[in-house]
Amino acid sequence: VQRNNKQDNAPILQALNNYLEKNYVSFHIPGHKNGQLVDQELLAMFQQQLFCFDLTELPGLDDLHQPEGPIEEAQKLGAQLFGAEETFFLVNGTSCGIEAGILSLCRDGEEIIVPRNVHQSVAYGLILSGAIPRYVPVEVCPKTGLALGPSLFKVEETLKLYPKAKGLVLVNPTYQGVAPALKDLVKLAHHADLPVLIDEAHGSHFCFSSSLPPSGLEAGGDLVVQSTHKLLGSLTQTSLLHVQGRRINRIRLKGYLKMVQTSSPSYLLMASLDGARRNMALKGKKLWEEILEEVREIRRQINALPGLDLLDEEDLKGTGFLLDPTKLVISPRGIGLSGEELAKILREKYRIQPEYADNNHVLLIVTPGNSREDLNKLVVSLVLIAKEYGEISDRKVKKIDFPNPPIGKQEVSPREAYNRQFVLLPLPETIGEIAAELVCPYPPGIPVVCPGEKITAEAVDYLRQAREVGAKIRGLDKEGRIAILS
Ligand SMILES: Cc1ncc(COP(=O)(O)O)c(C=O)c1O
Repeated sequence: VQRNNKQDNAPILQALNNYLEKNYVSFHIPGHKNGQLVDQELLAMFQQQLFCFDLTELPGLDDLHQPEGPIEEAQKLGAQLFGAEETFFLVNGTSCGIEAGILSLCRDGEEIIVPRNVHQSVAYGLILSGAIPRYVPVEVCPKTGLALGPSLFKVEETLKLYPKAKGLVLVNPTYQGVAPALKDLVKLAHHADLPVLIDEAHGSHFCFSSSLPPSGLEAGGDLVVQSTHKLLGSLTQTSLLHVQGRRINRIRLKGYLKMVQTSSPSYLLMASLDGARRNMALKGKKLWEEILEEVREIRRQINALPGLDLLDEEDLKGTGFLLDPTKLVISPRGIGLSGEELAKILREKYRIQPEYADNNHVLLIVTPGNSREDLNKLVVSLVLIAKEYGEISDRKVKKIDFPNPPIGKQEVSPREAYNRQFVLLPLPETIGEIAAELVCPYPPGIPVVCPGEKITAEAVDYLRQAREVGAKIRGLDKEGRIAILS
């Protein structure tokens, strides 16, 4: 983490304060006029100050799409802190950064290499750009059945198969905190002079501790997108897009960022990014080291509980993947509960709201925003739950333990699949048809079918089995139908 004495400035916050000091009568957008035209309950909830700071590109402030003032300065401070050459503030989440990134890498009909377990924003980037995805199959965690990511070997193989590809997408880390062998993967791609776009939605904190996996920028990623809102304390929707090196056409990138972001970016959002950056610059290292210490301790305590299985760094030893310990993935199958059941008990009986649950797991995300009391409460609740339900050997919760089917042939581009007419067909009748949508069971969170692919008998069989064991399946409706091209 780089710092200089400018990191205690927050230029957007300063500009907003300077602006408000002028006490202007508002004859400009937004229409609430400093909170005067607002639902009264909403006003009481937000307090008038919030509306006063809800401003647009007025003199003294700046323009996100052509920054020359406080936004430019705030972005530079962001770049300096995270170690990028250039940083862009995003007000439409990491999703829009990934979409703009893919658009800047590939034109219609060009190939891009993506791991099979990518977020939906990558699929949307493919649809918007017209690019042809060349998927890398991903490894599955032997313990949890969750997607780990692509191995070095599989990426190398795919790069050789598609020498004309225009870029490689990587995820660092997955939603559950699994990071790939990032430095080696980036090296591989750069050896072929291929730009690497890293989806770091869940890894914006990596540069604040050497005991976390390497950050995308440290690994040499050309374009790295981070959801600052998920882990570093800025408001929802705010993210950072970082660029380094010569492989990204920054003029194209800036053009696409204009397309995927609003022309009225909120200063509340941008100020929250500026504030989060300052907070992290001044205290981030200490805050993350402290919470990591606490997490190590509660991991020890959870690991000691019979019947609760916590995904641990040890479980990934020898796989080439690393674990972000601040993400707690707990399987309660050993006490005869599904992940959803454990999440419900935590929520309703102990007032603890997990991040996510599926049939097999509960995911809890820890940040320095959690107090020691929060962590203690979690451990005590888990102790009581483990005691109440008891360790059982006859596990009533089923799990997907069959291998992912081979990837079907890409018959048309995702864009074409998205734009053509579709019909919904019952799953068993879809063999040989072309998918209009992505179909993905959770766990493992690896799409079985992607838009534009031919649906194979193996894929249909896999989805049938996944349904039987109670996996959540995105892209399959309540009647068990999927969208295919008509
Ligand atoms: C792996 C991954 N990538 C990208 C995103 C998109 O991030 P955002 O919500 O900031 O748009 C998410 C969101 O959950 C995600 O899990």
